[in-house]
Amino acid sequence: MTTAPTRPAAAQGSVGTAHTRVEGRDKVTGAARYAAEIPFTGLAHGWLVLSTVARGRIRAVDADAALALPGVLAVLHHGNAPRLVTDYPGLLGVPDPTAVVFQHDRVPHAGWPVALVVAETPEQAREAADTLVVHYDEEPHDIAFSAARPDSYPADGLAPATTEKGDVEAGLAASAVVVDAEYTTPEEHHSSMEPHAATARWDDGRLEVVDSNQGSTWVQGELAGIFALDPSAVRVVSEHVGGGFGSKGVRAHQVAAAMAASVLGRPVRVVLTRRQVFSLTGYRSPTAQRVRLGADAGGRLRVLEHRSWNQTSTVYEFVESATGPARVLYDAEAHRTSQEVVRLDVPSPTWMRAPGEAPGSFALESAFDELAEKCGLDPIELRLRNEPEVGPVSGLPFAGRNLAACFREGARRFGWAERDPRPGVRRDGRWLLGTGTAAASFPVGAGASTAAVTAEADGTFTVRIAAADIGTGARTALTLVAADALGTAPERVRVRIGDSAFGPAWIAGGSMGTRSWSWAVTEAARELRERLALSGEIPPEGITVRSDTTEAIGALARKERHSFGAQFAEVAVDVATGEVRVRRMLGIFAAGRIVNPLTARSQLIGGMTWGISMALHEEAVRDRATGGHYGADLAGYHVATHADVPRIEADWVDDTDPDDPVGIKGIGEVGIVGAAAAIANAVWHATGVRHRALPIRPDRVL
Ligand code: MOS
Repeated sequence: MTTAPTRPAAAQGSVGTAHTRVEGRDKVTGAARYAAEIPFTGLAHGWLVLSTVARGRIRAVDADAALALPGVLAVLHHGNAPRLVTDYPGLLGVPDPTAVVFQHDRVPHAGWPVALVVAETPEQAREAADTLVVHYDEEPHDIAFSAARPDSYPADGLAPATTEKGDVEAGLAASAVVVDAEYTTPEEHHSSMEPHAATARWDDGRLEVVDSNQGSTWVQGELAGIFALDPSAVRVVSEHVGGGFGSKGVRAHQVAAAMAASVLGRPVRVVLTRRQVFSLTGYRSPTAQRVRLGADAGGRLRVLEHRSWNQTSTVYEFVESATGPARVLYDAEAHRTSQEVVRLDVPSPTWMRAPGEAPGSFALESAFDELAEKCGLDPIELRLRNEPEVGPVSGLPFAGRNLAACFREGARRFGWAERDPRPGVRRDGRWLLGTGTAAASFPVGAGASTAAVTAEADGTFTVRIAAADIGTGARTALTLVAADALGTAPERVRVRIGDSAFGPAWIAGGSMGTRSWSWAVTEAARELRERLALSGEIPPEGITVRSDTTEAIGALARKERHSFGAQFAEVAVDVATGEVRVRRMLGIFAAGRIVNPLTARSQLIGGMTWGISMALHEEAVRDRATGGHYGADLAGYHVATHADVPRIEADWVDDTDPDDPVGIKGIGEVGIVGAAAAIANAVWHATGVRHRALPIRPDRVL
């Protein structure tokens, strides 16, 4: 239920004009094959067995009964599995060892992979897996997360654990208005439509994996590290991907499949069940956050303090960088942020849908709404009065910001001027109505990539790049970018992605994919165009030009590079049941040049929809007694469905990154940032009650 793109096509060029997905027909007709659907000759099927205890040691794996069942080929576990490398340097630092299966007898959490049963069919493997008896020496476990844990400690992650300037306590004492509030967000799961799946086969010491991932180069590199191979001996293919949201890197299933394929000497496929995805592929940690704001009577910030806590596992340190927005959105004389983690007997969390910024913006942007209320100021006016000149922590100039423009345009289109600021005064029958707003920001950047562009003898062009289209429309965006750089029509350009054999490329992650790949494609295409202008006939094998953006990206000037946005929501709250319905949402973004308005709008609306999910539905609940989940499936774990999603509009203001060859910033994740806060602020406006714990369930509203 989105509005159709109305922007007129640019006078010339494809970038900026709406284009349906180049693989859309393949996807809706079933011609597009996903990782678990690609046929292999002699294929065997592996089924992972996960631990039923939350902490302890594996005493014995009793495989006799399983091995006696028809079709069963092998049972791999720590007692018989080949040794792998656990301390290889991963792309994003020390990797999560959960993927490097069956290397020791320790069980660090419920749902830890303890064995793989391999059989001729998936059904046989599953039945045998149910028969397998694993004996454990169980130890007491601890999964109780809270901000008050004495064993939490500051941790850096990809950004420093703490930033600090000025005197917070003195500033608060001198402030006319103070907000001091605690917020919590629950454990949340990526919930990709397509569960993780991989098929591995070995050929003369070379490993080939057909996979569903967010980066073929990435998984290639990790598998090379784990199996002690040169990356050139590993090929990873991932053509179509049914969602990733941060969870689709190297995981237990690819490693288990490759291990079993080497033991059996035939191809092995491992597909995760929905339930297994909950334990094996990461999740967003619960957070506890405390925000303290001090301002003068006019709403000018004197103090901004944002502290965040998250849980991690005992085997891997993951930091949910929830103070990211506080480091970018607002400045104050006294400005302090800190991030702490506590190690518990739980699976390792990971990046998920605007990691850091999504939960962090809920706390910060809720606190700003509380400050506006206390100052008697309009929440947009409060934000406009606190627009910083430079990065509050970095001191660096912004490579474009335009947040104020987003708020002005959003306020106009949403009808914000007619809003009565008093809470609890609008009513529609049994529903209380309210509106709320929040700011969004998400870092953007570029990762080094290589691309090859070929001028074919028939006058068409082929682009090869190890990009990943996880549902975003990246393949289509690259087609438009290549067409413009080549000076041709998109119909003459064929883009091939998802194959590590195309050379190294950045991942579909960090909102950096399309920008990183477009840069490499543009460089190769421009050079090819120049070459073609000089050459005569094209030989049968075509003319190919390769690019590598390592140097160009390394030379980028240091700036605060972010996409920004203004989120608006209107909610209705049922006074009898406590149900919250979102009635409409609007997001206006400043997110660089928009390559394809059609898929860009979908991406932003998708993010805002996840914001509804985060505000009202998503919550993974663990059983303290077993350490495992209640309802680890899409019946027990609620995500927003069609019936929960109202009319959502997403649009953007003119914005460009002056340092990018196409002007792109990145739109992958900014759509979810601030969306939950806008909804929570609207619930306050409807009811007069603040909700500082997500999700805003009916029982919490009543
Ligand atoms: Mo994303 S959480 O960078 O896939």
